[in-house]
Amino acid sequence: MLLVEREISLPKMKTAVITGANRGLGLEFARQYRAEGWEVIACCRNPEDAVELSATGASIHKLDLQKLDSIDRFVSSLGQRPIDILINNAGIHDRSKEEGFSGIETERWVEGFKVNAIAPVLLTRALIENLSAARNPIAATIGSQAGCLTLYDTGGLYLYRTSKAAAHSAAVIMANDLKPFGIPYVCLRPGHTKTDMGGRDAPYEIDESVRMMRDVLDQVDMTQTGCFLDRTGALISWNMEEDLNE
Ligand SMILES: NC(=O)c1ccc[n+]([C@@H]2O[C@H](COP(=O)([O-])OP(=O)(O)OC[C@H]3O[C@@H](n4cnc5c(N)ncnc54)[C@H](OP(=O)(O)O)[C@@H]3O)[C@@H](O)[C@H]2O)c1
Repeated sequence: MLLVEREISLPKMKTAVITGANRGLGLEFARQYRAEGWEVIACCRNPEDAVELSATGASIHKLDLQKLDSIDRFVSSLGQRPIDILINNAGIHDRSKEEGFSGIETERWVEGFKVNAIAPVLLTRALIENLSAARNPIAATIGSQAGCLTLYDTGGLYLYRTSKAAAHSAAVIMANDLKPFGIPYVCLRPGHTKTDMGGRDAPYEIDESVRMMRDVLDQVDMTQTGCFLDRTGALISWNMEEDLNE
């Protein structure tokens, strides 16, 4: 009896699943959730090299999102475990390799589509039961204004732009599919942030962008499902008219 009472009064530890958690925004999400006592299921391609991630105390899982058939195996390894937050964060955008119209590398483009647009759908779908088992589950894609067609006033960057536009589209479609399960799905815009992808000259620091996106996630409910939300929490149009990258 005493044991039962103690169990009930214990605060329930929350769990986050984060992809691309070995560096950049994903690593910082892992750090911040761990610092607040969350369990973090951190996914990355090369766990043996994930030294900083390992230092957070996250549980590290090998997951290469180009290998789409490995997603179901990863999810099976979690069993029935409730998942409170899923952050589809992993992304590919290497400016140095993205040539213009004449330099498109078809295979890389397909790889980019798998990681940026298709994997978030397959991973979220595979985790539906785990998310449904949590009290107030939330799932998100890290979106980008690079996915907004209305801002395309130059050519080039086919891989990143088209795959992020597809990721946005997939997020809205998924938000509808997830409604019967009561799982809100949103796209978050971190803003131009100093990571390997964002570059050294980006205006925002990683810890600030992640803290702000976590604050937004804290407030998300079904009224915002299918929305594109700025790190400030402001609703962004899928067809942005103004470049917000300071
Ligand atoms: N930084 C910005 O300014 C900015 C702005 C808007 C949106 N975003 C979005 O935010 C997310 C994180 O970006 P970031 O700036 O943190 O980028 P980053 O520093 O380049 O990190 C990208 C992460 O994605 C992982 N990844 C790449 N390919 C993968 C694969 N096949 N399987 C699994 N993981 C893979 C990388 O792992 P490896 O180390 O193994 O390559 C790395 O952990 C992305 O979705 C990006 O589009 C970033």
